[in-house]
Amino acid sequence: MRIDIITVLPELLKSPFEASILKRAIEKGLVEVHMHNLRDYTDKSYNQVDDYQFGGGAGMVLMIEPIDKCISALKAERDYDEIIYMTPDGETLNQKTANTLSLVENIIILCGHYKGVDQRVRDAFITKEISIGDYVLSGGELAAAIVCDSVIRLIPGVLSNETSALTDTFQDNLLAPPVYTRPSEYKGLKVPEVLLSGNFPKIEEWRENEAYNRTKRLRPDLLKDQ
Ligand code: ADE
Repeated sequence: MRIDIITVLPELLKSPFEASILKRAIEKGLVEVHMHNLRDYTDKSYNQVDDYQFGGGAGMVLMIEPIDKCISALKAERDYDEIIYMTPDGETLNQKTANTLSLVENIIILCGHYKGVDQRVRDAFITKEISIGDYVLSGGELAAAIVCDSVIRLIPGVLSNETSALTDTFQDNLLAPPVYTRPSEYKGLKVPEVLLSGNFPKIEEWRENEAYNRTKRLRPDLLKDQ
């Protein structure tokens, strides 16, 4: 998989890809992530990429020309499955979207800034708009990093034990059951007996029950979606 991220703040997007699972996925060659600084695609003085909005009002808007130039340069090299725009008014990211995106070959992610991008960018180039939740960030970069993390960890081969993604919270519309590790008793706090029993069918049944009860208690809306 190849991910091209278009941003005015590439430095904000360095560290998420330099540690842990995402770093290993890149090292293993399972994903390539390329940053493109929008300022490299403008002919204007001071590398200007934004301007005041028509009709007046506070806040700058990213201009269409540098975005067009950047996207066109990328599209000249390869086909893209999705051109995604990060925006609080997009469809909210969920596990299903992450699963779907983990199966595609090439994606572009455009990070918004200031008041956003000229609407003509969205109309002409964007195939999918994603929000990470009902709150406004200063820009789309951190949201893009979240999309990348949720997608890359699902690419086959990225997690050393592939089944561990399959038992994640949300993977089957249920929250994950509680987990415990050593010691089996700490200051009187005990691990449920069944987990120490070695009876694996019983353990599986206990986990399924716990997952269901936890979901019913904390996120009953997930059960209604089934
Ligand atoms: N840009 C600003 N806020 C955002 C959000 N909540 N999701 C995605 N992109 C954003």
